[in-house]
Amino acid sequence: MSLQEELQQLRRTIDDESRTIASAQDAEAFRLRHLVKKGTIQACVEQLRSVPKEQKPQIGKLLNEVRTLAESIHANAVATYAAASAVKAMDVTLAGRGVRPGAMHPITQTVDRLVGIFASMGFDVAEGPDIEDDAHNFEYLNFAPDHPARDMQDTFFVDASERSDILLRTHTSSVQVRVMQQMKPPIRCIMPGRVYRNEAVSARSLAEFHQIEGLYIDKGVSMADLKGTIMAFARRFYDENAEFRFRTSFFPFTEPSCEVDMSCFLCKGQGCRICKHSGWLEICGAGMVHPNVLRACGIDPDEYSGFAFGFGVERVVMMLTGIDDIRMLYENDVRIIGQFAP
Ligand code: PHE
Repeated sequence: MSLQEELQQLRRTIDDESRTIASAQDAEAFRLRHLVKKGTIQACVEQLRSVPKEQKPQIGKLLNEVRTLAESIHANAVATYAAASAVKAMDVTLAGRGVRPGAMHPITQTVDRLVGIFASMGFDVAEGPDIEDDAHNFEYLNFAPDHPARDMQDTFFVDASERSDILLRTHTSSVQVRVMQQMKPPIRCIMPGRVYRNEAVSARSLAEFHQIEGLYIDKGVSMADLKGTIMAFARRFYDENAEFRFRTSFFPFTEPSCEVDMSCFLCKGQGCRICKHSGWLEICGAGMVHPNVLRACGIDPDEYSGFAFGFGVERVVMMLTGIDDIRMLYENDVRIIGQFAP
C-alpha cells in the first residue's frame, strides 16, 4: 500500500473513531493511538522521507490534513468530556457550602426601626448636609458667640479657603434650622444623620456617630405633647410598661429643657449591667423650642410653639445589644455585627 493510500485509510479510521468517542478515557486512548511519537501520524511522517521528491508536496499536504483532523477531534472530545468527568467527580455526600446572605449593619437596622415608628406617628423624614456653617449649627440655635461648644476642642472646622465658619455638624439640630427655614408649620419631622465631635476615641465615645432629631411645631404645642410623644415612642420601641423620669436640663435651643430617663427595659428598674445598677436609662435630650430659635428661623413665637428632642443612635444600639464598647460597632468584625442579622 502506498503512503497516499495509507493516509486515506487513516483518515477514514480517524473519522469513524471520532463517532465512538464517548468519554475522557476514549479521548485519551484516541490521542495515544494517533497523536503521540509512536502513533499512526508520526509513523506516516517517517515514511514521507522515502517518498519520491515530486510526490512530496501532495502527500505532505494530505498528511497535514489528517493530522489537523485528528487534533481537532481530540480537542473537541477533551472539551466535551472534561466537564462531564468533573461532574462525575462531585462528592454528593460532602457538607454543603451554605449561603451567607448579607444583612444591614446594626446601626442602619436601628435607624430604620426608629424612623419606622416615628413615621407611623406622622413624622416626615428630613436630612441636611454633614458639612455646615456656624449659623446653622450654632447661631440660629441660640448659642451665644462665646459658648464653649464652639471651641476647637469640640468642633471640627473645615479648612475652607475664604471662610472660617465651615464645620462638620456637631449635632443633627442643624437640620431643625433648615427644616424650619424651609417649611411652614405644622411641622412634624424626624432627622437622622451622622454627627462629628473632636473627642478622644474610647469605649464610650467616637469622633463620628449618629443622632436622630425630632421636631414638632404647631399652634398650641405644649410640654404635655413632648412627654406624650416621647413616652409613646419609647413604649413601642423599648418596653410597653416603661416608667419615665423627666429631669430638668439645659440646651441653648430649648426652654425649658429636659433629659428623659426610662426604667431599664432589661431589669425593670431592679438594677443591672445595662443600666449601671441605677434602674434607669437615659434615652434623650429634649425641650420646648426656644422662642429665639423660632424667630431666627422665621416662625412667629407668639403664634407657634413646638418641641424638639435628640438622641444618639449608637447608645441605643449598645443598650439593646449589650455591646459595651462603641468601637465594636465600627470595626466591622462580622463575628460581632453578624450576630444582629435579622
Ligand atoms: N442636640 C442635642 C445634643 O446633641 C440634643 C437635643 C436635640 C436636645 C433636641 C434637645 C432638643 O446633645
